[in-house]
Amino acid sequence: ENEGKKIYHFEVGQPDFPTPENVVNAGIEALKKGLTRYTPARGIPPLLDAIEGSYKARGIDFDGSKNVIATPGAKMALFAGFMASIDSGDDVLLLAPAWPTYRVMIRSLNAKPVDVHTNGNYEIDEEKLKHKISRTVSALVINTPNNPTGGVLSKENMKLIYDLAEDHDFVVFSDEIYETLVYDGFKQTSMLEIDSTMERTLVINGFSKSYAMTGWRLGYAIGNEETISNMVRIQQNTTSCAASFTQYAGAKALTGDQSSIEQMVAEYQKRRDVITHLFNEIEGIACLNPKGAFYVFPNFVEYGLSSATLSELFLMKTGICTTPGVAFGDKYDSYLRFSYSASLEDIEEGIAVLVKFLPTIK
Ligand SMILES: Cc1ncc(COP(=O)(O)O)c(C=O)c1O
Repeated sequence: ENEGKKIYHFEVGQPDFPTPENVVNAGIEALKKGLTRYTPARGIPPLLDAIEGSYKARGIDFDGSKNVIATPGAKMALFAGFMASIDSGDDVLLLAPAWPTYRVMIRSLNAKPVDVHTNGNYEIDEEKLKHKISRTVSALVINTPNNPTGGVLSKENMKLIYDLAEDHDFVVFSDEIYETLVYDGFKQTSMLEIDSTMERTLVINGFSKSYAMTGWRLGYAIGNEETISNMVRIQQNTTSCAASFTQYAGAKALTGDQSSIEQMVAEYQKRRDVITHLFNEIEGIACLNPKGAFYVFPNFVEYGLSSATLSELFLMKTGICTTPGVAFGDKYDSYLRFSYSASLEDIEEGIAVLVKFLPTIK
């Protein structure tokens, strides 16, 4: 790119839209008001209230002052949640393909990530899941809509997970960060609608994807009082708190005009339709049409190359940048993740370049 070559950025995991103006203004206002000090480790009351209010509007009730912690990004919510709930030697099930960060965090706590493979569009295979449950399993991580497939879990699948968690006494980490980015009228169920007591659920969410706020670093977790207060202790002694002005901006994001989400979703859906259509026109490539997030995960098995080799070849020979499937689990080494957080022109032009290049490696 520095040499002036065209690079098609299909590897990015962040929205290409700007943060909505009302949210930016709320952040600037907070800075101008001098709201630049440490905040309570749990988060500022207006943000915790706004999170409580946004779920109440969907019929999900909890106490924002007890059941929520705001963190610097969903990543920190996840890590503090894992630290508070997982012991060394535990097995943690990952509904795979799974975002690589889960694996890294779990291993860093001397626990073992164990993949449970889903079918196609992130659909649960009940027998496969049951087969992986053992006495050493203390948690299961789900991520719906899913990174990298864009697949979603149905309410029935989430209920099945909850029933198994109850029967076998494990915790469910439900990463719902892409929940607003859903298409074709699909409505994503939150695990909190199923486990209203929050006894064995920790929901992870954040502002990076829904409000295009990746650089602001703001996420949160919702769970039972005991887990959240342990997470508050971890945060107090690590990051202290999420940035103050960022938290004010986040409160505005949740309480202000939501039309920016609708606009982003409409645009993503258009791009998804185009990219899946283009992939499925290529002979030998299978690409599902997922209902959420901003990724597709086509299978290049016919080309007989590892995902790292394919990804490197695409980049070096065509300028198409992708994420190798193997990053999401060993079983996915014939897949590549394409993010459609890229303009329609880049999607159309980039896939046309790919179509020309593919016959040269077959
Ligand atoms: C599945 C998933 N969870 C969490 C995150 C992290 O979000 P944040 O920017 O809030 O840390 C990402 C970002 O790529 C993600 O894909």
